[in-house]
Amino acid sequence: MQKVALVTGAGKNIGRSCAIELAKAGFAVALVDLSEDGIEETAALIGAAGGTASTHIADVANFKSAQDIVARVQQRYGQIDFLLNNAGLSNGIGILDINEEQFDRTISVNLKSCFNYIHHVAPLMLAQKSGRIVSMSSLAALSGGVTAAISKFSYAAAKAGIIGMTRSLAKELGPTIAVNAICPGVIRSEVEAMIGQTSAEDVVKGNALRRLGTPLDIANVVVFLATNEPNFITGQALTIDGFQYNA
Ligand SMILES: NC(=O)c1ccc[n+]([C@@H]2O[C@H](COP(=O)([O-])OP(=O)(O)OC[C@H]3O[C@@H](n4cnc5c(N)ncnc54)[C@H](O)[C@@H]3O)[C@@H](O)[C@H]2O)c1
Repeated sequence: MQKVALVTGAGKNIGRSCAIELAKAGFAVALVDLSEDGIEETAALIGAAGGTASTHIADVANFKSAQDIVARVQQRYGQIDFLLNNAGLSNGIGILDINEEQFDRTISVNLKSCFNYIHHVAPLMLAQKSGRIVSMSSLAALSGGVTAAISKFSYAAAKAGIIGMTRSLAKELGPTIAVNAICPGVIRSEVEAMIGQTSAEDVVKGNALRRLGTPLDIANVVVFLATNEPNFITGQALTIDGFQYNA
């Protein structure tokens, strides 16, 4: 039986790369994103690579739509083997300027979204007696971050929440479900445009591998965590940042 992955925020960059690599690894991939154009393009790229994908337009902050999508994916494929909570939103507004709505939105899109999807996927995984979950945290959760120029405290708080949720759920859902988080450093996406050339150069100078990360750097680890069984990895927050020592 073909394995099935559900990937949120699959419309571009890291989420798109993860979805494509999961498809290449043999998963049928259910793509979730706010951007219809984005996930249709991802689905086309997966199709061109010989894979299978379905598309679901939704705001990951919405609990009910997570419930509907998980039910639809389960109905269509009969199982969900891997969940990647990737959708996220940066927020560069400082503590003195942010308003309540902006803070709540950052927490909802980055952190509550993980609850929304795990809450609905975990019962299926427990019933099928296996499953793996990865959620996208950030180096910002650990350090406050070299990404501080684009992502300040509300983002760091949400991403740190993902690590706490991951550790606790690894205990609660083990031994059946492995639950991990990934903390990317600065990944080449639109990030240079967002932080500017000088900050991007500072990032490159301040890590041991002297480059920005790529979506594929992250996708390779995601595929490893989704596929390599058995492994003894759960409850972890894996930092993938080229050792960003000036963070
Ligand atoms: N790029 C980096 O340097 C970096 C570093 C650390 C962590 N991360 C995290 O990795 C993940 C992916 O990062 P990226 O750079 O590829 O992001 P991105 O902004 O390039 O893409 C995010 C995708 O998620 C979708 N999305 C955003 N809000 C959504 C919502 N409410 N509902 C559904 N879809 C939504 C967007 O449409 C987009 O397709 C995010 O969680 C981000 O916080 C990124």
